Amino acid sequence: METIARLGVVGCGLMGSGIAEVAALRGIDVLAAEATREAAEAGRRRITGSLDRGVLRGKISEEVRDLALARLSFTHDLGNMADRQFVIEAVAENRDIKTNVIQTLDKVVADPRAVLATNTSSLPIVDLAVATERPEQVIGMHFFNPVPVQTLVELIPALTTAEDTLDRTRRFATEQLGKVTVQAPDRSGFVVNALLVPYLLAAVRMVESGSASAEDIDRGMELGCAHPMGPLRLLDLVGLDTAQAIADSLYDEYREPLYAPPALLRRMVAAGRLGRKSGRGFYDYS
Ligand code: CAA
Repeated sequence: METIARLGVVGCGLMGSGIAEVAALRGIDVLAAEATREAAEAGRRRITGSLDRGVLRGKISEEVRDLALARLSFTHDLGNMADRQFVIEAVAENRDIKTNVIQTLDKVVADPRAVLATNTSSLPIVDLAVATERPEQVIGMHFFNPVPVQTLVELIPALTTAEDTLDRTRRFATEQLGKVTVQAPDRSGFVVNALLVPYLLAAVRMVESGSASAEDIDRGMELGCAHPMGPLRLLDLVGLDTAQAIADSLYDEYREPLYAPPALLRRMVAAGRLGRKSGRGFYDYS
């Protein structure tokens, strides 16, 4: 069986840091890249903080944390990805940025068999695939937040993705990262977001219309439907900017009103109320 010993993760925000942490905990050498030295340092702090919380909660020992940290290195130069066998990009949900990253990886990753996976939530995988010289080795690999907790990974082969790439990615996700996979179509939102996002947007519309408070909507879904968190708390976790970008992609593809981002979501993003990561969204985290 093929084993991925050297993983690259590009983008060390919410998703990238979670992916890097999980891989390092499972014995894989991880090189995490960010755009600047400062952002790479912030990524290191995010992962270290998460591992430290794991120790505090008695989930992992100090030794396991230290071993994971020793397997992680950070860079702000994508050129250092040259020796990676598998790279997952998890940069901002922006078509130009993602295209640029995947094209750079295509040039620098030396192994011609290396898989270039994208954690995009909503962009067509095929658009990223055909931007490279190896469209058969580009695949969607969509993780869920928080990555260390959520076991699902959606695998999204594009029309150009080779069967072998899909098999190798499935084995890597299940056998090495310990995740459960579902195969999803290369259509905006794949399986989970195509169902989840209209629900989240409906909750925003409910707040916008003044028909219920954020607290009551969340309590309703938590206690009435046993969801671990209500839709507005979940939007704060996902990030309102990310949610807006996903909704824009969905609306662009399907042109159905249920996918259109409500004005309140746009205004909150414009105001910098992005949720937990900015300290304020539907709730205050300061
Ligand atoms: N890393 C590791 N473990 C973590 C963690 C993290 N970042 N965050 C929480 N946990 C663990 C805790 O250690 C705890 O474990 P135990 O129960 O074994 O002690 C458990 O998760 C629960 O955590 P908490 O007690 O701190 O808090 P909670 O019970 O409120 O759970 C939550 C927090 C895990 C986020 C939970 O509320 C949840 O699952 N919410 C739903 C999240 C969800 O739906 N995610 C999908 C978003 S959609 C997406 O990601 C796709 C996209 O493209 C937008």
